[in-house]
Amino acid sequence: MNKDFWNRKASEWKICFLAPMDGYGDSAYRQSMKRVAPHIMCISEFYSADGLVHSKFLADSVLPHSNIEDPLIIQIFGKDPYMFARAAEIISQSKYNIAGIDVNMGCPAKKVVRSGHGSSLLINSDTAFEIISALDKATDLPISVKTRRSFDGNQNLLDFVGWLEKSGAKLITIHGRTAKQAYTWHADHTDTYELKKHVNIPVICNGDIISYDDGINKVQDLNGFMIGRASFWNPWCFIPWGYDPTLEEMLQAMEFHATKLVETKWERKGSLEIRKHLVQYLKHFPGVKAYRKELVTTESLGNSLRVIESIRKEFKNDLDKRPGLGEVTTP
Ligand SMILES: Cc1cc2nc3c(=O)[nH]c(=O)nc-3n(C[C@H](O)[C@H](O)[C@H](O)COP(=O)(O)O)c2cc1C
Repeated sequence: MNKDFWNRKASEWKICFLAPMDGYGDSAYRQSMKRVAPHIMCISEFYSADGLVHSKFLADSVLPHSNIEDPLIIQIFGKDPYMFARAAEIISQSKYNIAGIDVNMGCPAKKVVRSGHGSSLLINSDTAFEIISALDKATDLPISVKTRRSFDGNQNLLDFVGWLEKSGAKLITIHGRTAKQAYTWHADHTDTYELKKHVNIPVICNGDIISYDDGINKVQDLNGFMIGRASFWNPWCFIPWGYDPTLEEMLQAMEFHATKLVETKWERKGSLEIRKHLVQYLKHFPGVKAYRKELVTTESLGNSLRVIESIRKEFKNDLDKRPGLGEVTTP
């Protein structure tokens, strides 16, 4: 993998990303998305640069992944350029075949901002540039940045990204909200389109994109788009031309996700974490309230799989129908 990675990717076609999402985007989640949509690029949840340096356990828990997720980008956060450089050495020298490092400069959470991490780097911009320079020197992996269009409307995005590029950033993603807006209002990509005219690195838009086709409509001259929340129950959101899965495809996706989560995080942790995912898959599916109730209290993989099998049995005549199109009605 070399520093030219993102330019080469961008020269192929618009890049479609699964957004980094803390509490969601672990290995099992990424595998579940890539199983259905192999063309997407995955970025991990964010991990503390200091944490990776101080805890071998953290590195050995979050860097391993399946080949299906390759090329995998690891996102890190922090505020100390030296710790970023050391974390980059750990990531790039590990045996886990990581393709790139993304730096979080967009998280608006109060705790994160107060610590000088995430979106506060839009204000402490000198530190942001030092972080990218330090990373660029420390590793051969391409460094990218995910940020917001500004912190509170008072920062100049063109200057900020121009300096990130000069410091060594090779791709930039802009969430079209300010950090102050958090998740309120609508994402606005106007500044991102303008930015593209002023930098030479690939530019990606993010925020409120609900499907591949929506991304293609919004991407204009940019190099790609990133989808986060729309993927929660729906790996098919990444499929071009829109795709509504059959009930059987949904049940198989749930089985795959549950099995992978337990495989990667062990029975206790995996079977608790899978609850929030499984109920999302059934969100638009009528007549399964009782099953959803069981799934939110499930405590083992065996139990989750049994509930999914019961749905399969009860709806055996509807397995090739598409719940998203209203083809399955309450039995
Ligand atoms: C639950 C959750 C966790 C998130 N965690 C991260 C994270 O770890 N790193 C990051 O850069 N952004 C994170 N984000 C922001 C998303 O990557 C994305 O920028 C945001 O959700 C807007 O995109 P969307 O409208 O497609 O969801 C998170 C968002 C959500 C909803």
